[in-house]
Amino acid sequence: MSKTLLILAHPHIKDSFANKIIVEKLKTLIPDLEIDNIYEKYPDGKIDVKAEQEKLDKANTIILAYPMYWFNSPYLLLKWIEDVFTHGYAYGTNTYKLEGKKLIVSMTMGGAKDEYKGKFDVERLVGPLECTALFVKMKFGGYACTLDIPFTIKDTPDVAKAKTAELEKHAEKLAELAKN
Ligand SMILES: Cc1cc2nc3c(=O)[nH]c(=O)nc-3n(C[C@H](O)[C@H](O)[C@H](O)COP(=O)(O)O)c2cc1C
Repeated sequence: MSKTLLILAHPHIKDSFANKIIVEKLKTLIPDLEIDNIYEKYPDGKIDVKAEQEKLDKANTIILAYPMYWFNSPYLLLKWIEDVFTHGYAYGTNTYKLEGKKLIVSMTMGGAKDEYKGKFDVERLVGPLECTALFVKMKFGGYACTLDIPFTIKDTPDVAKAKTAELEKHAEKLAELAKN
């Protein structure tokens, strides 16, 4: 049985609109989904590298989910990768412990589609994580991205309703990518 692990990197999940919906929907689509919000787990930023590597060893598919912050992921996800994907574990002579596992990216963004056309499109923003996957011989399984989530969304019920449907589709896409 394929095991899917969701690494959620949201510094304020209680205030989240988008990622909360994605996670709740995904739980219904992948019943044995393991979810780790690294901001809740490591509020001081000190990552238990051995525990994280052991958790990765047991997963076949890893979804990295986050709200876009400054055209990147929130910093703790970068630190998590830096700390956990060590030489001798994730890469090095004959030591590619993540080899063959699938990496999927889930991003939400405040900016509208039009702002991410051309040179700095969404594909480009996903690029560093795709490169990371390939460097450690994982399979890059694709990504889901929902744009145009205004900070004020909770004050506009019609917009929120339409976005909820879009975000549930986002979760469905992730579940599909995890399956294939
Ligand atoms: C510190 C910070 C930086 C942000 N940077 C970006 C950005 O670079 N591009 C963008 O489209 N949205 C940006 N946003 C908007 C968030 O991506 C958006 O609010 C989030 O994806 C919504 O998801 P949530 O409801 O789960 O929090 C930023 C938000 C914050 C708080």
